[in-house]
Amino acid sequence: RWRPEQTGTGAHADRTAREIDEQADHAAELVRTWVPSVRSGRVWDQLALPVPERVRFLACGSSRHAAEVGARVLRRLAGTPCEVTVASEHDPADQVPGELTVAVSQSGETADVLRALDALPGPLLAVTNSPTSSLARRADAVFDLGVGPELGVAATKTFTAQVLAGVFLALSSAVARGRLPRSSTAELLDELSATPEALHRAGRLALHRADELAERLAPQPGFLFVARGAALPYAAEGALKLEELTYRWAQCHPAGEFKHGPLALVEPGTPVVVVEDGAAALDTIVHEVSARGADVLRVGWGEGCAFGVLDRPEPHAWGPLESIAALQHLARTLAARLGRDVDRPRNLAKSVTVV
Ligand code: G6P
Repeated sequence: RWRPEQTGTGAHADRTAREIDEQADHAAELVRTWVPSVRSGRVWDQLALPVPERVRFLACGSSRHAAEVGARVLRRLAGTPCEVTVASEHDPADQVPGELTVAVSQSGETADVLRALDALPGPLLAVTNSPTSSLARRADAVFDLGVGPELGVAATKTFTAQVLAGVFLALSSAVARGRLPRSSTAELLDELSATPEALHRAGRLALHRADELAERLAPQPGFLFVARGAALPYAAEGALKLEELTYRWAQCHPAGEFKHGPLALVEPGTPVVVVEDGAAALDTIVHEVSARGADVLRVGWGEGCAFGVLDRPEPHAWGPLESIAALQHLARTLAARLGRDVDRPRNLAKSVTVV
């Protein structure tokens, strides 16, 4: 658990570096706390909510990317219809009677999220790092991330915690609805229990390479991120981190969409960050952009990766969570190399309390 003395930068250059670094330990704590309830399918019981028949996630920014992961697992493994709505775009006309709203917000004070909570069609679950926030007070149940205050403006450790919370909720639904044979549940929980160590390893590996890559990438004005399927939310989050921290343009697209536009941006030296998901085939896009001289940075598995963060070629149901440690380090190290104020990027606020 987070302790009060942990608000400084400690041995780290800035708070963001510290928060990236400590996320593996928080993940371990979350796994320890919640996996037993996931195993018995009782996470929803613990929150005093019925297992939902239908879910709408509401979130902004990094929290929205995290929500995408939970929604995908919920759809795929629990067979629960669900969607993710950008809170500022929420339209009550789209609500479905009885659906559970899951508002994902680190601060619990984001005005767009709070505004979207008028006239909900069913119960509200808050997934937040602030159990005393406006959102938490308004909710029927609260999933407290409990990872301690996040002081860097860019979300890092709370993103990882939100992803895990979404996966716990989704897997618990799958177990409770009898969607998983016992053997697959055991296998999934083993994989889930290995994520803290995978995050830790990925972070160490990324730190090792980040300076050299930041040096190489510093002159580049724009970045492309590419992924498929379950890796997409992580690629999108990596692009957002890069923009927030470095003030460089970053776009994220599904691999298949490159040929419909983004490919025109690729010139010799353009960095293309490829976020792999084990089995997801990205060879074609790597070939296409390499042929045009792109500087391809693979975050994945096997030979030739800039960040070889995956330790196996098979994908996880929740995608390559460990890749986020590398993407966060890349963005932070490049920002520091460019002389940016890493903890307080220009024009941004930690908590946006206006709509
Ligand atoms: C701000 C922060 C982001 C965060 C977003 C949503 O824009 O700078 O890091 O992802 O708000 O915040 P929330 O507190 O609702 O998760």
